[in-house]
This record gives sequence, C-alpha cells and structure tokens, in this order.
Amino acid sequence: MEALIVLLPGDGIGPDVTTAAKQVLEAVADKYGHRFTFREELIGGAAIDACGDPLPPATIAACEACDAVMLGAVGGPKWSDPNAEVRPEQGLLKLRSTLGVYANIRPVRIYDELAAASPLKPELLNGVDLIVVRELTGGIYFGEKTRNESSASDLCLYNSYEIERIVRVAAKLAAGRRGKLCSVDKANVLETSRLWRDVTDRLIAAEFSNIELETLLVDAAAMHLLSRPSDFDVIVTENMFGDILTDEASMLAGSMGMLPSASLGDSARGLYEPIHGSAPDIAGQGIANPCGAIASAALLLRHSLGLHDEAAAVETAISVAITNGARTADIAADDEAVESTTEMTDVIIRCLN
Ligand code: IPM
Ligand code: MG
Repeated sequence: MEALIVLLPGDGIGPDVTTAAKQVLEAVADKYGHRFTFREELIGGAAIDACGDPLPPATIAACEACDAVMLGAVGGPKWSDPNAEVRPEQGLLKLRSTLGVYANIRPVRIYDELAAASPLKPELLNGVDLIVVRELTGGIYFGEKTRNESSASDLCLYNSYEIERIVRVAAKLAAGRRGKLCSVDKANVLETSRLWRDVTDRLIAAEFSNIELETLLVDAAAMHLLSRPSDFDVIVTENMFGDILTDEASMLAGSMGMLPSASLGDSARGLYEPIHGSAPDIAGQGIANPCGAIASAALLLRHSLGLHDEAAAVETAISVAITNGARTADIAADDEAVESTTEMTDVIIRCLN
C-alpha cells in the first residue's frame, strides 16, 4: 500500500526517536512491499525558533493531508520560562485538537526480562497488561485560562458527548480484552467528575452490559496502580488524570522510554507519539530509548494503515530484541551492556527481518 506519513521530530530527544521510528517503518515497507512517503515538519520549540509559532500553518496543512502523524516530543528549558507567551506545548495541544484526536490509547506492556528495571517488586508485575485510555482534547488542558499579577485560573470543562465518546472507545477495547473497565475521576470534589461518573454509569449500563465497570477516585487509583497493577484491564480517565497516571504506569514497564501511544479520532488518521517527553538532560547524546517511539510506529501501522500483521511483527521484533538482551541505558541493569539509540534500533530492525 501507499501512505504519506508526516514526521514531527520536535525537541530534545524527539529527533533521535523519530528517526528510529522512521527507520523501522522503512524496514517494514521494504519487507512487505509498501510505499511510505515521509514528510518532515516543524513543531514545538524547534518551530518557535524557526518562525515564532509552535504549530506553523505548513505543519497543520501537512498533518491534515496525510495518513498518519509520527511525533517525537516537544518542550525544553529553553522555552519554559513561566512568563513566556509562546510555548512548545501549545503546538502539541493545538495539533491534538485540530486533528480531533480525542482518544489517547496508552498500552502498558510488561516484558518479564525488564522486571529488574521497575522499582516495583517483581511478583507485583506478574500478569500486568493494561491500557490507559486518556481523554485528549478536553478538560483543564483546553479550558479558558486567566492570569494577572496575583492570581490565575484554569477552567476544567467537559460536555457529556466528550465523555460518552471516550468511554465508548474504552469500553469497546475492554470488550475485546478481559471485559474490565475502570473509570477514574475525582467525583467527591469535582463537578466535571460527577458528570463523568453519571454519563459513564448510564452508558455502560445501556450499551455494554457485559463489561464489568469499576470506579476509582484518582488518588486511590494512583495507589492501586502500584499495589495491584495486574487487576487492571482498561482504565478510562480525563485528560489531566490520564497524563499523570500514565507516567506512573510507565514505572511498571521499567522506563518512560518504553511506552507508546496512539491518539485517534473519528477518522483513520492518527497521531502517534511515545509518552515520554523531550528529556533535555540526555538530548543529543544518542542514548535515548527508541522502544516507545518504535512501538508507536507499530500502533500507526495498525490503527491508521490497517496493517495488522506488520504492526504485530514490529511489536514482536521489540520483544525479541529485549529477550535477546538489547538494552538502552534506562532499562539496563548494572552488569548489562548498553546500546545507543541507533544500535537498539538496528537490533530491532534485524529482529524484524
Ligand atoms: C504527554 C505530555 C504532554 C501532555 C505535554 C508535553 C503537553 O506530557 O503527552 O503526556 O501533558 O499531554
Ligand atoms: Mg505526560
């Protein structure tokens, strides 16, 4: 098949891991006889430096005209002055909302061989296999903001249709897995959470009678994720809680560098990015873990291009590479040899072939 893929490397380690994902996609195209065309555009701090806009019109136009978008990371100390008018993250948020990708799917997959990389006891990690479905285009990230010298506010707003559509995505996913859905909110304090809970209860009762629905307050959920992670199947939650809980969940997998994500809307076009940030402390050193980005490329193949075998082959290649002992610095034990970003990518491509 033919596909046009827009690459948005962004900032920090974003370019390193985006290159890795592109190389794997090229290897997939070679092996399976597809033609992928890549087009690189600016986003984030790199775009601010080039033209003062974290999401230039050319980037929006390219993303609206392609089959899928692969993004590295945005942000860094250079642009994070709390009084800055223009910020890299604004570019990412505007892109998510422009593309209408309201459903952010963050699978948390555990590799037995990496149990030692997790701060949790290995016995707690047995059987962990969960997906966090994070609402991505609403809530406090997108509500009205105010700021003056001595006060500031961020509005958290949710409409019931936004809750319905994200809960539906999560419930469908759960129906194809262990049939367990956990909805996370803060209904004891927040009105938006009470609406969330009400809409969720009604929707599951009406449309998904086979799903087992559990409801947790976000503070308790943060604790249960560490005390009984293997109980979770699909977790659905609002934008900010999902942001926080997925960084926490990445520790089950051993490193932020391992987790991929897919951001989907109502069309096939999706935005794919590792959940990690720009990691300015290791930028430009060639040591970033490319697994999260490469696993995001697998999600791209599956969800935007419908290439299910190819997606599974990439996921298997990552897993075989890890089983064979390939480790970037973030997941290596003290006595294990460490691969660079490009070495790790090459190992994964060899496993693919
Ligand atoms: C993420 C990131 C972003 C978010 C930042 C970079 C705006 O943390 O994708 O998890 O908060 O959504
Ligand atoms: Mg985050």
